[in-house]
Amino acid sequence: MIVLVMQWLHVLLGICWFGGVLYLDFVVIPAVMTLPLEQQRAVSKPLTLFSSRLLFPVSILVILLGLVRGTIFGPVQSWDFLIGTTYGLTFLVAFMATVATFLWGHFVIDPAARRLDAFPLEEVMQSGGAGALAFAAQVKRLKMLAILQMLGFFIIFTCMILMRFGL
Ligand code: HEM
Repeated sequence: MIVLVMQWLHVLLGICWFGGVLYLDFVVIPAVMTLPLEQQRAVSKPLTLFSSRLLFPVSILVILLGLVRGTIFGPVQSWDFLIGTTYGLTFLVAFMATVATFLWGHFVIDPAARRLDAFPLEEVMQSGGAGALAFAAQVKRLKMLAILQMLGFFIIFTCMILMRFGL
């Protein structure tokens, strides 16, 4: 019963984290980018704040629940199993990919998004000026960083399905 509740919570929080980032990257942020710059600023600060307020604790819980589900309540009960079986290796890859994805979001994407908010509006709005070009370059960089984060999520998701089939 406890395994059932744990997996229920793990999957619910996992889809909340992965789904939240997917929705932000492919719906919310592209929609906000169509607004005039002043309005983008007004929306992006609370959006960043509310997103990290939710996604930070959710992602920590997903990782902890996943670890407990696979070890105490799962088959990964020795180092030999961890590095000597397909399931163990998939578990290890999932753990490392999730921690990397978490750190990437927290220490690379969040600061890059905050840097966008810090660009002086007057300079950004002078089209063709150095400020506008630097802003456009930062937007492009942020998109690239977000795509790399998605790659992390797809690796994790694949590992979850593989483990379901004992691999
Ligand atoms: C973004 C992060 C994560 C998401 C979205 C996620 C999602 C899921 C989903 C949907 C399942 C159910 C799979 C199925 O029954 O078909 C699952 C199961 C599981 N997850 Fe995760 N997970 C994440 C991170 C982790 C981490 C970091 C670990 C631990 C290293 C982990 C360990 C497990 C284990 C052991 C299972 C049970 C696999 C089995 O059936 O034997 N997960 N996860």
